[in-house]
Amino acid sequence: MAQGEDKMTLTNRQGHPVDNNQSMRTVGRRGPTTMENYDFIEKITHFDRERIPERVVHARGAGAHGFFETYGTVGDEPITKYTRAKLFQQKGTQTPVFVRFSTVTHGNHSPETLRDPRGFAVKFYTEDGNWDLVGNNLKVFFIRDAIKFPDLIHAFKPDPVTNIQDGVRIFDFIMNTPEALMMITFLFSPWGIPANYRQMQGSGVNTYKWVNEQGEAVIVKYHWEPKQGIKNLTQQEAEDIQGKNFNHATQDLYEAIESGEFPEWEFCVQIMSDDDHPELDFDPLDDTKLWPTDKFPFLPVGRMVLNRNPIDYFAEVEQVAFGTGVLVDGLDFSDDKMLQGRTLSYSDTQRYRVGPNYLQLPINAPKKHVATNQRGGQMDYRVDIAPGQNPHINYEPSTLGGLHEATKIGKEYTPHVEGELVRQVIDRTNNFKYAGEQYRKFEDWERDDLITNLVNTLKPALQHIQQGMTDLFTKCDPDYGRRVGEGLGIGIKNGIQSNKSDTEFGGRPIGTSHTDEG
Ligand code: HEM
Repeated sequence: MAQGEDKMTLTNRQGHPVDNNQSMRTVGRRGPTTMENYDFIEKITHFDRERIPERVVHARGAGAHGFFETYGTVGDEPITKYTRAKLFQQKGTQTPVFVRFSTVTHGNHSPETLRDPRGFAVKFYTEDGNWDLVGNNLKVFFIRDAIKFPDLIHAFKPDPVTNIQDGVRIFDFIMNTPEALMMITFLFSPWGIPANYRQMQGSGVNTYKWVNEQGEAVIVKYHWEPKQGIKNLTQQEAEDIQGKNFNHATQDLYEAIESGEFPEWEFCVQIMSDDDHPELDFDPLDDTKLWPTDKFPFLPVGRMVLNRNPIDYFAEVEQVAFGTGVLVDGLDFSDDKMLQGRTLSYSDTQRYRVGPNYLQLPINAPKKHVATNQRGGQMDYRVDIAPGQNPHINYEPSTLGGLHEATKIGKEYTPHVEGELVRQVIDRTNNFKYAGEQYRKFEDWERDDLITNLVNTLKPALQHIQQGMTDLFTKCDPDYGRRVGEGLGIGIKNGIQSNKSDTEFGGRPIGTSHTDEG
Protein backbone atom coordinates (compact mmCIF):
# COMPACT_ATOMS: atom_id res chain seq x y z
CA MET A 1 0.00 0.00 0.00
CA ALA A 2 1.32 3.42 -0.91
CA GLN A 3 2.40 5.89 1.73
CA GLY A 4 -0.53 7.72 3.36
CA GLU A 5 -2.97 4.94 2.45
CA ASP A 6 -4.73 2.33 4.54
CA LYS A 7 -7.15 -0.34 3.40
CA MET A 8 -10.13 2.02 3.66
CA THR A 9 -8.54 4.67 1.43
CA LEU A 10 -10.74 5.64 -1.52
CA THR A 11 -9.12 4.94 -4.91
CA ASN A 12 -10.23 5.03 -8.50
CA ARG A 13 -10.36 1.84 -10.58
CA GLN A 14 -6.72 2.36 -11.58
CA GLY A 15 -5.71 2.13 -7.92
CA HIS A 16 -4.87 5.83 -7.67
CA PRO A 17 -5.68 7.22 -4.20
CA VAL A 18 -8.40 9.89 -4.42
CA ASP A 19 -7.50 12.80 -2.14
CA ASN A 20 -10.30 15.13 -3.19
CA ASN A 21 -13.70 13.61 -3.90
CA GLN A 22 -15.61 16.89 -3.41
CA SER A 23 -14.42 19.28 -6.14
CA MET A 24 -13.67 18.99 -9.86
CA ARG A 25 -10.48 20.60 -11.11
CA THR A 26 -11.35 24.09 -12.42
CA VAL A 27 -9.60 27.19 -13.62
CA GLY A 28 -10.04 29.32 -10.56
CA ARG A 29 -12.58 28.78 -7.85
CA ARG A 30 -15.59 29.52 -10.15
CA GLY A 31 -14.52 27.43 -13.17
CA PRO A 32 -14.56 26.60 -16.06
CA THR A 33 -13.58 22.95 -15.75
CA THR A 34 -10.78 21.32 -17.71
CA MET A 35 -10.81 18.23 -19.91
CA GLU A 36 -8.08 16.32 -18.10
CA ASN A 37 -10.26 15.81 -15.01
CA TYR A 38 -9.52 12.06 -15.05
CA ASP A 39 -11.04 11.20 -11.66
CA PHE A 40 -14.20 13.17 -12.40
CA ILE A 41 -14.57 11.76 -15.94
CA GLU A 42 -14.04 8.19 -14.71
CA LYS A 43 -16.57 8.65 -11.94
CA ILE A 44 -19.29 10.30 -14.00
CA THR A 45 -18.94 8.12 -17.12
CA HIS A 46 -19.10 4.98 -15.02
CA PHE A 47 -22.21 6.36 -13.37
CA ASP A 48 -23.69 7.00 -16.83
CA ARG A 49 -23.39 3.27 -17.46
CA GLU A 50 -24.66 2.03 -14.08
CA ARG A 51 -27.68 0.33 -15.55
CA ILE A 52 -27.80 -2.59 -17.91
CA PRO A 53 -30.93 -3.50 -19.88
CA GLU A 54 -33.44 -4.91 -17.46
CA ARG A 55 -34.77 -8.43 -18.00
CA VAL A 56 -37.41 -8.39 -20.74
CA VAL A 57 -39.57 -10.35 -18.30
CA HIS A 58 -39.10 -10.90 -14.55
CA ALA A 59 -37.34 -7.53 -14.19
CA ARG A 60 -38.28 -6.97 -10.55
CA GLY A 61 -36.66 -9.45 -8.21
CA ALA A 62 -35.02 -10.29 -4.90
CA GLY A 63 -32.37 -12.90 -4.23
CA ALA A 64 -30.59 -14.84 -1.52
CA HIS A 65 -27.88 -17.46 -1.02
CA GLY A 66 -28.31 -20.76 0.76
CA PHE A 67 -27.89 -24.49 0.39
CA PHE A 68 -29.69 -27.54 -0.89
CA GLU A 69 -29.39 -30.75 1.13
CA THR A 70 -30.31 -34.10 -0.40
CA TYR A 71 -32.15 -36.87 1.44
CA GLY A 72 -30.36 -39.41 -0.82
CA THR A 73 -33.74 -40.98 -1.58
CA VAL A 74 -36.80 -40.17 -3.64
CA GLY A 75 -39.78 -40.99 -1.49
CA ASP A 76 -39.02 -44.48 -0.13
CA GLU A 77 -36.73 -45.50 -2.96
CA PRO A 78 -33.01 -45.03 -3.52
CA ILE A 79 -32.48 -42.10 -5.84
CA THR A 80 -29.96 -44.09 -7.90
CA LYS A 81 -32.92 -45.97 -9.37
CA TYR A 82 -33.88 -42.82 -11.28
CA THR A 83 -30.96 -40.41 -11.56
CA ARG A 84 -27.21 -40.42 -11.31
CA ALA A 85 -27.02 -36.64 -10.75
CA LYS A 86 -24.29 -36.35 -8.11
CA LEU A 87 -25.90 -33.67 -6.00
CA PHE A 88 -28.69 -36.07 -5.00
CA GLN A 89 -26.75 -39.23 -4.26
CA GLN A 90 -25.26 -39.03 -0.74
CA LYS A 91 -27.76 -38.27 2.04
CA GLY A 92 -26.78 -35.01 3.75
CA THR A 93 -24.64 -33.61 0.88
CA GLN A 94 -25.08 -29.86 0.76
CA THR A 95 -24.87 -27.89 -2.50
CA PRO A 96 -24.65 -24.08 -2.42
CA VAL A 97 -27.52 -22.29 -4.16
CA PHE A 98 -28.52 -18.80 -5.21
CA VAL A 99 -32.23 -18.10 -5.61
CA ARG A 100 -33.94 -15.21 -7.34
CA PHE A 101 -37.65 -14.56 -6.85
CA SER A 102 -39.41 -12.13 -9.17
CA THR A 103 -42.57 -10.70 -10.64
CA VAL A 104 -42.98 -11.07 -14.40
CA THR A 105 -44.62 -8.24 -16.23
CA HIS A 106 -43.52 -4.83 -15.07
CA GLY A 107 -40.22 -2.99 -14.70
CA ASN A 108 -37.35 -3.15 -12.31
CA HIS A 109 -38.89 -1.19 -9.46
CA SER A 110 -42.56 -1.97 -9.91
CA PRO A 111 -44.83 -2.84 -6.96
CA GLU A 112 -44.49 -6.35 -5.56
CA THR A 113 -48.20 -6.49 -4.83
CA LEU A 114 -49.26 -6.84 -8.45
CA ARG A 115 -51.26 -9.75 -9.83
CA ASP A 116 -48.60 -11.65 -11.71
CA PRO A 117 -46.92 -15.05 -11.62
CA ARG A 118 -43.84 -15.05 -9.39
CA GLY A 119 -40.50 -16.36 -10.62
CA PHE A 120 -38.64 -18.92 -8.50
CA ALA A 121 -35.23 -19.51 -10.08
CA VAL A 122 -32.58 -21.62 -8.36
CA LYS A 123 -28.92 -21.94 -9.31
CA PHE A 124 -27.29 -25.05 -7.81
CA TYR A 125 -23.49 -24.75 -7.77
CA THR A 126 -22.91 -28.54 -7.93
CA GLU A 127 -19.60 -30.40 -8.03
CA ASP A 128 -20.44 -31.27 -11.66
CA GLY A 129 -21.00 -27.62 -12.59
CA ASN A 130 -24.13 -25.51 -12.41
CA TRP A 131 -27.72 -26.63 -12.60
CA ASP A 132 -30.42 -23.96 -13.00
CA LEU A 133 -34.03 -24.75 -12.21
CA VAL A 134 -35.94 -21.76 -13.59
CA GLY A 135 -39.44 -22.03 -12.20
CA ASN A 136 -42.50 -20.09 -11.15
CA ASN A 137 -44.75 -20.18 -8.10
CA LEU A 138 -47.74 -21.43 -10.09
CA LYS A 139 -47.42 -24.98 -11.36
CA VAL A 140 -48.92 -24.46 -14.82
CA PHE A 141 -48.39 -21.92 -17.60
CA PHE A 142 -50.52 -19.92 -20.08
CA ILE A 143 -49.28 -21.51 -23.30
CA ARG A 144 -47.75 -24.79 -24.41
CA ASP A 145 -45.77 -23.69 -27.47
CA ALA A 146 -42.78 -21.34 -27.21
CA ILE A 147 -43.63 -19.51 -30.45
CA LYS A 148 -46.55 -17.85 -28.64
CA PHE A 149 -44.45 -16.42 -25.79
CA PRO A 150 -43.68 -12.97 -27.28
CA ASP A 151 -47.41 -12.44 -28.05
CA LEU A 152 -48.42 -13.54 -24.57
CA ILE A 153 -45.94 -11.14 -23.00
CA HIS A 154 -46.92 -8.26 -25.31
CA ALA A 155 -50.55 -8.74 -24.30
CA PHE A 156 -49.65 -8.58 -20.59
CA LYS A 157 -47.06 -5.79 -20.83
CA PRO A 158 -48.18 -2.15 -20.96
CA ASP A 159 -49.90 -0.95 -24.13
CA PRO A 160 -47.23 0.29 -26.57
CA VAL A 161 -49.08 3.61 -26.98
CA THR A 162 -50.21 4.48 -23.46
CA ASN A 163 -47.58 2.50 -21.51
CA ILE A 164 -50.39 1.28 -19.25
CA GLN A 165 -51.24 -2.38 -18.67
CA ASP A 166 -54.69 -3.05 -20.06
CA GLY A 167 -56.92 -5.96 -19.05
CA VAL A 168 -58.78 -5.58 -22.34
CA ARG A 169 -55.65 -6.37 -24.33
CA ILE A 170 -54.95 -9.32 -22.01
CA PHE A 171 -58.38 -10.86 -22.52
CA ASP A 172 -58.40 -10.07 -26.23
CA PHE A 173 -55.40 -12.43 -26.42
CA ILE A 174 -56.63 -14.97 -23.88
CA MET A 175 -60.02 -15.26 -25.56
CA ASN A 176 -58.25 -16.99 -28.43
CA THR A 177 -55.81 -18.89 -26.22
CA PRO A 178 -58.08 -21.30 -24.37
CA GLU A 179 -55.14 -23.39 -23.13
CA ALA A 180 -54.50 -20.47 -20.73
CA LEU A 181 -57.72 -21.00 -18.77
CA MET A 182 -56.18 -23.03 -15.94
CA MET A 183 -53.46 -20.41 -15.48
CA ILE A 184 -55.99 -17.56 -15.69
CA THR A 185 -58.12 -19.31 -13.06
CA PHE A 186 -55.14 -19.38 -10.71
CA LEU A 187 -53.88 -15.91 -11.64
CA PHE A 188 -57.13 -14.04 -11.00
CA SER A 189 -57.70 -15.86 -7.73
CA PRO A 190 -55.67 -14.96 -4.60
CA TRP A 191 -53.01 -17.37 -5.94
CA GLY A 192 -52.12 -14.56 -8.37
CA ILE A 193 -50.80 -12.43 -5.48
CA PRO A 194 -48.59 -14.43 -3.10
CA ALA A 195 -48.28 -12.62 0.24
CA ASN A 196 -44.48 -12.65 0.03
CA TYR A 197 -41.67 -14.76 -1.41
CA ARG A 198 -41.19 -16.97 1.65
CA GLN A 199 -44.75 -18.27 1.78
CA MET A 200 -45.08 -19.43 -1.80
CA GLN A 201 -44.47 -22.65 -3.67
CA GLY A 202 -42.13 -23.10 -6.58
CA SER A 203 -42.37 -25.35 -9.60
CA GLY A 204 -40.26 -26.19 -12.63
CA VAL A 205 -43.56 -26.14 -14.60
CA ASN A 206 -42.01 -27.79 -17.64
CA THR A 207 -41.22 -31.50 -17.84
CA TYR A 208 -37.63 -32.66 -17.50
CA LYS A 209 -35.96 -36.07 -17.43
CA TRP A 210 -33.91 -37.98 -14.94
CA VAL A 211 -31.33 -40.44 -16.29
CA ASN A 212 -29.79 -43.24 -14.23
CA GLU A 213 -26.46 -45.08 -14.42
CA GLN A 214 -27.91 -47.57 -16.94
CA GLY A 215 -28.86 -44.73 -19.31
CA GLU A 216 -32.60 -45.18 -18.58
CA ALA A 217 -34.85 -42.14 -18.31
CA VAL A 218 -38.07 -41.13 -16.59
CA ILE A 219 -39.91 -37.84 -16.99
CA VAL A 220 -40.16 -35.61 -13.93
CA LYS A 221 -41.72 -32.41 -12.63
CA TYR A 222 -40.07 -30.43 -9.84
CA HIS A 223 -41.78 -28.73 -6.91
CA TRP A 224 -40.71 -26.55 -3.96
CA GLU A 225 -42.99 -26.68 -0.92
CA PRO A 226 -42.49 -23.88 1.64
CA LYS A 227 -42.03 -24.95 5.28
CA GLN A 228 -43.42 -21.51 6.20
CA GLY A 229 -46.79 -22.47 4.68
CA ILE A 230 -48.54 -20.80 1.75
CA LYS A 231 -50.17 -17.38 2.02
CA ASN A 232 -51.94 -15.45 -0.74
CA LEU A 233 -53.68 -12.07 -0.78
CA THR A 234 -57.04 -10.87 -1.94
CA GLN A 235 -57.01 -7.86 -4.25
CA GLN A 236 -58.12 -5.64 -1.36
CA GLU A 237 -55.38 -6.88 0.97
CA ALA A 238 -52.78 -6.32 -1.75
CA GLU A 239 -54.02 -2.78 -2.37
CA ASP A 240 -53.81 -1.99 1.35
CA ILE A 241 -50.18 -3.14 1.44
CA GLN A 242 -49.31 -1.35 -1.79
CA GLY A 243 -50.57 1.95 -0.42
CA LYS A 244 -47.88 1.78 2.26
CA ASN A 245 -45.05 -0.27 0.81
CA PHE A 246 -44.46 -1.45 -2.72
CA ASN A 247 -41.26 -3.34 -1.83
CA HIS A 248 -42.81 -5.52 0.83
CA ALA A 249 -41.71 -8.91 -0.56
CA THR A 250 -38.06 -7.92 -0.97
CA GLN A 251 -38.10 -6.38 2.49
CA ASP A 252 -39.73 -9.44 4.02
CA LEU A 253 -37.11 -11.79 2.54
CA TYR A 254 -34.17 -9.56 3.44
CA GLU A 255 -35.30 -8.93 6.99
CA ALA A 256 -36.18 -12.56 7.69
CA ILE A 257 -32.70 -13.67 6.64
CA GLU A 258 -30.97 -10.81 8.52
CA SER A 259 -32.80 -11.81 11.70
CA GLY A 260 -31.84 -15.49 11.34
CA GLU A 261 -35.32 -16.65 10.38
CA PHE A 262 -34.15 -18.67 7.41
CA PRO A 263 -36.85 -19.69 4.92
CA GLU A 264 -36.89 -23.35 3.92
CA TRP A 265 -38.53 -25.38 1.17
CA GLU A 266 -38.84 -29.11 0.65
CA PHE A 267 -37.89 -30.25 -2.84
CA CYS A 268 -40.20 -32.85 -4.38
CA VAL A 269 -40.51 -34.58 -7.73
CA GLN A 270 -43.32 -36.27 -9.56
CA ILE A 271 -42.18 -39.16 -11.74
CA MET A 272 -43.71 -40.83 -14.81
CA SER A 273 -42.37 -43.42 -17.21
CA ASP A 274 -40.98 -41.80 -20.33
CA ASP A 275 -43.80 -42.25 -22.84
CA ASP A 276 -46.88 -40.36 -23.97
CA HIS A 277 -49.28 -42.02 -21.50
CA PRO A 278 -52.35 -42.66 -23.69
CA GLU A 279 -54.32 -43.56 -20.54
CA LEU A 280 -54.30 -39.87 -19.50
CA ASP A 281 -56.70 -37.33 -20.99
CA PHE A 282 -53.85 -34.84 -21.44
CA ASP A 283 -50.29 -35.01 -22.71
CA PRO A 284 -47.78 -35.19 -19.86
CA LEU A 285 -45.56 -32.70 -21.74
CA ASP A 286 -48.36 -30.11 -21.74
CA ASP A 287 -47.35 -27.43 -19.24
CA THR A 288 -50.91 -26.10 -18.97
CA LYS A 289 -51.80 -29.21 -16.93
CA LEU A 290 -51.06 -30.50 -13.44
CA TRP A 291 -50.00 -34.12 -13.08
CA PRO A 292 -52.63 -35.60 -10.73
CA THR A 293 -51.03 -36.22 -7.35
CA ASP A 294 -53.12 -39.33 -6.63
CA LYS A 295 -51.41 -41.09 -9.54
CA PHE A 296 -48.09 -39.25 -9.42
CA PRO A 297 -47.43 -38.24 -5.80
CA PHE A 298 -44.98 -35.58 -4.67
CA LEU A 299 -41.86 -37.51 -3.62
CA PRO A 300 -39.49 -35.63 -1.29
CA VAL A 301 -35.87 -35.44 -2.44
CA GLY A 302 -34.26 -32.80 -0.23
CA ARG A 303 -34.58 -29.39 1.34
CA MET A 304 -33.34 -25.88 0.62
CA VAL A 305 -32.53 -23.20 3.17
CA LEU A 306 -31.82 -19.54 2.33
CA ASN A 307 -29.47 -18.12 4.94
CA ARG A 308 -27.41 -15.28 3.45
CA ASN A 309 -28.37 -11.99 1.83
CA PRO A 310 -26.46 -10.64 -1.16
CA ILE A 311 -23.73 -8.10 -0.42
CA ASP A 312 -24.52 -6.14 -3.55
CA TYR A 313 -27.90 -6.20 -5.27
CA PHE A 314 -26.59 -5.33 -8.70
CA ALA A 315 -23.59 -7.68 -8.79
CA GLU A 316 -25.66 -10.62 -7.61
CA VAL A 317 -29.42 -10.25 -8.07
CA GLU A 318 -29.34 -8.11 -11.21
CA GLN A 319 -26.52 -9.86 -13.02
CA VAL A 320 -27.41 -13.43 -12.12
CA ALA A 321 -28.36 -15.37 -15.23
CA PHE A 322 -30.45 -18.54 -15.09
CA GLY A 323 -31.31 -20.77 -18.02
CA THR A 324 -33.26 -23.94 -18.65
CA GLY A 325 -30.36 -25.34 -20.70
CA VAL A 326 -28.10 -25.44 -17.66
CA LEU A 327 -28.28 -29.10 -16.56
CA VAL A 328 -25.78 -31.56 -15.09
CA ASP A 329 -25.15 -35.23 -15.84
CA GLY A 330 -28.15 -37.32 -14.74
CA LEU A 331 -30.65 -34.59 -15.66
CA ASP A 332 -32.00 -34.05 -19.17
CA PHE A 333 -34.53 -32.20 -21.32
CA SER A 334 -37.87 -33.69 -22.22
CA ASP A 335 -39.53 -33.07 -25.59
CA ASP A 336 -41.72 -30.36 -23.98
CA LYS A 337 -41.80 -27.71 -26.73
CA MET A 338 -41.97 -24.85 -24.27
CA LEU A 339 -38.87 -26.07 -22.48
CA GLN A 340 -36.97 -26.34 -25.74
CA GLY A 341 -38.00 -22.84 -26.83
CA ARG A 342 -37.05 -21.42 -23.44
CA THR A 343 -33.66 -23.04 -23.61
CA LEU A 344 -32.63 -20.93 -26.60
CA SER A 345 -34.12 -17.75 -25.16
CA TYR A 346 -32.34 -17.48 -21.80
CA SER A 347 -28.68 -17.54 -22.79
CA ASP A 348 -29.48 -15.48 -25.88
CA THR A 349 -31.00 -12.66 -23.83
CA GLN A 350 -28.20 -12.86 -21.26
CA ARG A 351 -25.49 -12.34 -23.88
CA TYR A 352 -27.35 -9.15 -24.74
CA ARG A 353 -28.41 -8.13 -21.23
CA VAL A 354 -25.22 -8.84 -19.29
CA GLY A 355 -22.69 -9.47 -22.07
CA PRO A 356 -21.09 -12.42 -23.87
CA ASN A 357 -18.88 -13.24 -20.89
CA TYR A 358 -21.71 -13.25 -18.35
CA LEU A 359 -20.63 -16.70 -17.17
CA GLN A 360 -17.34 -15.32 -15.87
CA LEU A 361 -19.09 -13.17 -13.25
CA PRO A 362 -18.76 -14.66 -9.76
CA ILE A 363 -22.54 -15.06 -9.31
CA ASN A 364 -22.82 -17.05 -12.54
CA ALA A 365 -19.52 -18.95 -12.60
CA PRO A 366 -19.55 -22.52 -11.32
CA LYS A 367 -17.67 -23.11 -8.07
CA LYS A 368 -15.46 -25.69 -9.74
CA HIS A 369 -12.77 -26.11 -12.39
CA VAL A 370 -13.66 -24.31 -15.66
CA ALA A 371 -11.40 -24.71 -18.69
CA THR A 372 -12.65 -23.75 -22.15
CA ASN A 373 -11.16 -22.60 -25.43
CA GLN A 374 -13.58 -19.70 -25.62
CA ARG A 375 -11.72 -16.40 -25.81
CA GLY A 376 -12.44 -12.73 -26.24
CA GLY A 377 -15.66 -10.77 -26.27
CA GLN A 378 -16.46 -7.80 -24.12
CA MET A 379 -15.06 -7.93 -20.59
CA ASP A 380 -13.25 -11.26 -21.04
CA TYR A 381 -10.82 -11.70 -18.18
CA ARG A 382 -9.68 -15.19 -19.00
CA VAL A 383 -10.63 -16.95 -15.80
CA ASP A 384 -11.08 -20.17 -17.69
CA ILE A 385 -7.50 -20.95 -18.73
CA ALA A 386 -6.52 -24.13 -16.86
CA PRO A 387 -3.41 -24.00 -14.68
CA GLY A 388 -0.62 -25.53 -16.76
CA GLN A 389 -2.49 -25.08 -20.03
CA ASN A 390 -0.23 -23.90 -22.85
CA PRO A 391 -1.66 -20.39 -23.40
CA HIS A 392 -0.91 -20.60 -27.14
CA ILE A 393 -3.30 -23.51 -27.56
CA ASN A 394 -6.92 -22.35 -27.59
CA TYR A 395 -8.15 -25.21 -29.76
CA GLU A 396 -8.76 -28.92 -29.36
CA PRO A 397 -7.46 -31.50 -30.25
CA SER A 398 -3.78 -30.62 -29.83
CA THR A 399 -0.54 -32.36 -28.85
CA LEU A 400 1.00 -29.14 -27.52
CA GLY A 401 -0.44 -28.85 -24.04
CA GLY A 402 -4.02 -27.89 -24.78
CA LEU A 403 -7.19 -29.06 -23.09
CA HIS A 404 -8.54 -32.55 -23.72
CA GLU A 405 -12.05 -34.01 -23.57
CA ALA A 406 -13.48 -35.45 -20.37
CA THR A 407 -13.80 -39.20 -19.90
CA LYS A 408 -17.40 -40.19 -20.43
CA ILE A 409 -19.16 -41.30 -17.26
CA GLY A 410 -22.33 -43.36 -17.08
CA LYS A 411 -24.11 -44.98 -20.00
CA GLU A 412 -25.16 -42.45 -22.58
CA TYR A 413 -28.89 -41.78 -22.82
CA THR A 414 -29.82 -42.06 -26.52
CA PRO A 415 -33.58 -41.71 -27.04
CA HIS A 416 -34.86 -42.64 -30.49
CA VAL A 417 -36.51 -39.71 -32.28
CA GLU A 418 -38.37 -39.86 -35.58
CA GLY A 419 -41.42 -38.26 -37.13
CA GLU A 420 -42.69 -35.90 -39.81
CA LEU A 421 -41.66 -32.26 -39.55
CA VAL A 422 -44.91 -30.45 -38.80
CA ARG A 423 -46.34 -27.34 -37.18
CA GLN A 424 -49.16 -28.76 -35.11
CA VAL A 425 -50.87 -28.49 -31.77
CA ILE A 426 -50.41 -31.54 -29.53
CA ASP A 427 -53.30 -33.99 -29.13
CA ARG A 428 -55.43 -34.14 -25.98
CA THR A 429 -55.55 -30.37 -25.51
CA ASN A 430 -58.41 -30.70 -23.00
CA ASN A 431 -58.46 -26.96 -22.34
CA PHE A 432 -61.46 -26.66 -20.04
CA LYS A 433 -61.88 -29.64 -17.74
CA TYR A 434 -59.04 -28.96 -15.34
CA ALA A 435 -59.69 -25.22 -15.08
CA GLY A 436 -63.25 -26.18 -14.08
CA GLU A 437 -61.95 -28.67 -11.53
CA GLN A 438 -59.67 -26.03 -10.08
CA TYR A 439 -62.57 -23.57 -9.90
CA ARG A 440 -64.55 -26.09 -7.86
CA LYS A 441 -61.55 -26.90 -5.65
CA PHE A 442 -61.07 -23.32 -4.46
CA GLU A 443 -62.41 -22.27 -1.08
CA ASP A 444 -65.39 -19.92 -1.21
CA TRP A 445 -63.36 -16.78 -0.47
CA GLU A 446 -60.90 -17.69 -3.25
CA ARG A 447 -63.70 -18.26 -5.75
CA ASP A 448 -65.40 -15.00 -4.75
CA ASP A 449 -62.17 -13.05 -5.19
CA LEU A 450 -61.56 -14.77 -8.57
CA ILE A 451 -64.99 -13.74 -9.87
CA THR A 452 -64.65 -10.17 -8.58
CA ASN A 453 -61.21 -9.78 -10.15
CA LEU A 454 -62.29 -11.21 -13.50
CA VAL A 455 -65.41 -9.08 -13.62
CA ASN A 456 -63.54 -5.90 -12.69
CA THR A 457 -60.86 -6.55 -15.31
CA LEU A 458 -63.38 -7.45 -18.02
CA LYS A 459 -65.79 -4.57 -17.33
CA PRO A 460 -64.04 -2.08 -19.64
CA ALA A 461 -63.76 -4.70 -22.42
CA LEU A 462 -65.79 -4.62 -25.64
CA GLN A 463 -68.83 -6.81 -25.42
CA HIS A 464 -67.50 -9.51 -27.74
CA ILE A 465 -64.53 -10.03 -25.42
CA GLN A 466 -66.77 -10.16 -22.35
CA GLN A 467 -69.01 -12.62 -24.13
CA GLY A 468 -66.13 -14.71 -25.45
CA MET A 469 -64.54 -15.02 -22.01
CA THR A 470 -67.86 -15.77 -20.32
CA ASP A 471 -68.45 -18.57 -22.79
CA LEU A 472 -65.00 -20.01 -22.15
CA PHE A 473 -65.52 -19.93 -18.38
CA THR A 474 -68.88 -21.64 -18.94
CA LYS A 475 -67.12 -24.44 -20.78
CA CYS A 476 -64.90 -24.88 -17.72
CA ASP A 477 -67.82 -24.91 -15.29
CA PRO A 478 -71.36 -23.59 -15.84
CA ASP A 479 -71.34 -21.83 -12.46
CA TYR A 480 -68.02 -20.16 -13.30
CA GLY A 481 -69.42 -18.71 -16.53
CA ARG A 482 -72.74 -17.81 -14.95
CA ARG A 483 -71.11 -15.78 -12.20
CA VAL A 484 -68.76 -13.91 -14.53
CA GLY A 485 -71.62 -13.30 -16.95
CA GLU A 486 -73.89 -12.01 -14.20
CA GLY A 487 -71.13 -9.74 -12.92
CA LEU A 488 -70.79 -8.30 -16.41
CA GLY A 489 -74.53 -8.12 -16.93
CA ILE A 490 -74.48 -10.34 -20.02
CA GLY A 491 -75.92 -13.72 -20.95
CA ILE A 492 -74.18 -16.97 -21.70
CA LYS A 493 -73.84 -18.05 -25.31
CA ASN A 494 -74.23 -21.79 -25.91
CA GLY A 495 -76.03 -21.76 -22.60
CA ILE A 496 -78.97 -20.03 -21.14
CA GLN A 497 -79.61 -16.56 -22.39
CA SER A 498 -77.16 -15.19 -24.97
CA ASN A 499 -78.60 -12.81 -27.51
CA LYS A 500 -75.40 -12.20 -29.50
CA SER A 501 -74.25 -14.26 -32.47
CA ASP A 502 -70.61 -15.18 -33.17
CA THR A 503 -70.37 -13.07 -36.26
CA GLU A 504 -71.98 -9.99 -34.78
CA PHE A 505 -68.61 -8.81 -33.55
CA GLY A 506 -66.95 -8.96 -36.95
CA GLY A 507 -63.94 -11.06 -36.05
CA ARG A 508 -63.49 -14.79 -36.09
CA PRO A 509 -65.84 -17.00 -34.07
CA ILE A 510 -65.66 -16.16 -30.45
CA GLY A 511 -63.64 -18.21 -28.06
CA THR A 512 -62.22 -20.46 -30.74
CA SER A 513 -58.88 -20.75 -32.40
CA HIS A 514 -56.86 -23.40 -34.16
CA THR A 515 -55.73 -24.54 -30.72
CA ASP A 516 -59.22 -25.11 -29.42
CA GLU A 517 -60.77 -28.55 -29.46
CA GLY A 518 -64.18 -27.01 -28.67
C1 HEM B 1 -36.88 -14.97 -17.23
C2 HEM B 1 -38.03 -16.31 -21.70
C3 HEM B 1 -41.42 -19.28 -20.00
C4 HEM B 1 -39.66 -18.56 -15.59
C5 HEM B 1 -36.96 -15.03 -18.60
C6 HEM B 1 -36.20 -14.21 -19.48
C7 HEM B 1 -36.51 -14.60 -20.74
C8 HEM B 1 -37.48 -15.64 -20.64
C9 HEM B 1 -35.95 -14.03 -22.02
C10 HEM B 1 -35.19 -13.14 -19.06
C11 HEM B 1 -33.93 -13.83 -18.63
C12 HEM B 1 -32.80 -12.89 -18.27
O1 HEM B 1 -32.79 -11.73 -18.72
O2 HEM B 1 -31.90 -13.34 -17.55
C13 HEM B 1 -39.02 -17.25 -21.62
C14 HEM B 1 -39.64 -17.91 -22.76
C15 HEM B 1 -40.61 -18.72 -22.28
C16 HEM B 1 -40.59 -18.59 -20.84
C17 HEM B 1 -39.24 -17.68 -24.20
C18 HEM B 1 -41.56 -19.61 -23.00
C19 HEM B 1 -41.35 -20.06 -24.21
C20 HEM B 1 -41.22 -19.39 -18.67
C21 HEM B 1 -41.86 -20.33 -17.81
C22 HEM B 1 -41.36 -20.13 -16.57
C23 HEM B 1 -40.39 -19.05 -16.65
C24 HEM B 1 -42.87 -21.41 -18.24
C25 HEM B 1 -41.67 -20.88 -15.32
C26 HEM B 1 -41.40 -22.14 -15.22
C27 HEM B 1 -38.78 -17.53 -15.68
C28 HEM B 1 -38.11 -16.96 -14.52
C29 HEM B 1 -37.32 -15.92 -15.00
C30 HEM B 1 -37.51 -15.87 -16.42
C31 HEM B 1 -38.24 -17.40 -13.08
C32 HEM B 1 -36.46 -14.98 -14.17
C33 HEM B 1 -35.11 -15.60 -13.88
C34 HEM B 1 -34.31 -14.67 -13.00
O3 HEM B 1 -34.73 -14.50 -11.84
O4 HEM B 1 -33.31 -14.14 -13.46
N1 HEM B 1 -37.76 -15.89 -19.32
N2 HEM B 1 -39.61 -17.68 -20.48
N3 HEM B 1 -40.33 -18.63 -17.93
N4 HEM B 1 -38.39 -16.86 -16.80
FE1 HEM B 1 -38.98 -17.30 -18.62
